[in-house]
Amino acid sequence: MTDQASADQGLVEANRDLYNSHTEALLVNTDDIHAAAKAIGSPSNEHFAAFGQIEADLLRQHGLASDSFLIDVGCGSGRLGHQLAGWLKGRYLGTDISPPLLHYAEKACGRPDWQFELIQGLEIPADDASADMVCYFSVLTHLRHEESYIYLEAARRVLKQGGVLVFSYLEFEVESHWDVFDATMASVREDGGLHVNQFMSRDLIEAWAPRLGFEVTSLHRGDTPHIDLTDPDFVGEVNPVVDGQSMLGQSVAVLTAI
Ligand SMILES: C[S@@+](CC[C@H](N)C(=O)[O-])C[C@H]1O[C@@H](n2cnc3c(N)ncnc32)[C@H](O)[C@@H]1O
Repeated sequence: MTDQASADQGLVEANRDLYNSHTEALLVNTDDIHAAAKAIGSPSNEHFAAFGQIEADLLRQHGLASDSFLIDVGCGSGRLGHQLAGWLKGRYLGTDISPPLLHYAEKACGRPDWQFELIQGLEIPADDASADMVCYFSVLTHLRHEESYIYLEAARRVLKQGGVLVFSYLEFEVESHWDVFDATMASVREDGGLHVNQFMSRDLIEAWAPRLGFEVTSLHRGDTPHIDLTDPDFVGEVNPVVDGQSMLGQSVAVLTAI
């Protein structure tokens, strides 16, 4: 292992331990969708399915085609993959650091042609310039900025020129994100804050983009509907819908590989 790889592994160790202990407690039975939903932060099966649809609609809106190669970094228990399994004919690679979540995702998607890879660090096990789209939903929010930067270098390596990077993030401009910050502050005061909730700013994203080989296509606030829904009635049962559009809660960055 190179010094860099070993450093990367050290950086994600705490995160992996946290997710594994969290998910092993919940995923006693890996066939249990409710446990799988809760493990990645969805309070109910309906919430899990609705947010999977919102993620899928967001990616389609920003260019995911049915024959695309999509890489879903930190795919968790397959919230997105499950919603795309009946539609995406192209390749799909889901990666995660948590074996029980990855195992559930693979079973839930029911696509033997899709690839699910357990990873150790901040790597994407795909060929250079092979992917049409790379997404990180609620993943960079748990990494330090330096780790996210390394991960986005990996995203640029695997993306084709013109390929699309989508990631969700927390920002101080959005009032509801302050709840996360307040909870993190409470945990830092209590025990040093073992669980990272990392915020990003728009100027950070705009400064990083050209250095990483991207241009910023659009940035979307987490509290403002911007995602055209295929099933607004269903999503509307668990999340605000205005004129057929909804949002993730976290803000969303869409970047194009240049
Ligand atoms: C909040 S969950 C979101 C899961 C999924 N993206 C979704 O939207 O349903 C965060 C996921 O990121 C994974 N994760 C954390 N650090 C990671 C890393 N360095 N590389 C890949 N996955 C990671 C966790 O194991 C977990 O499955």
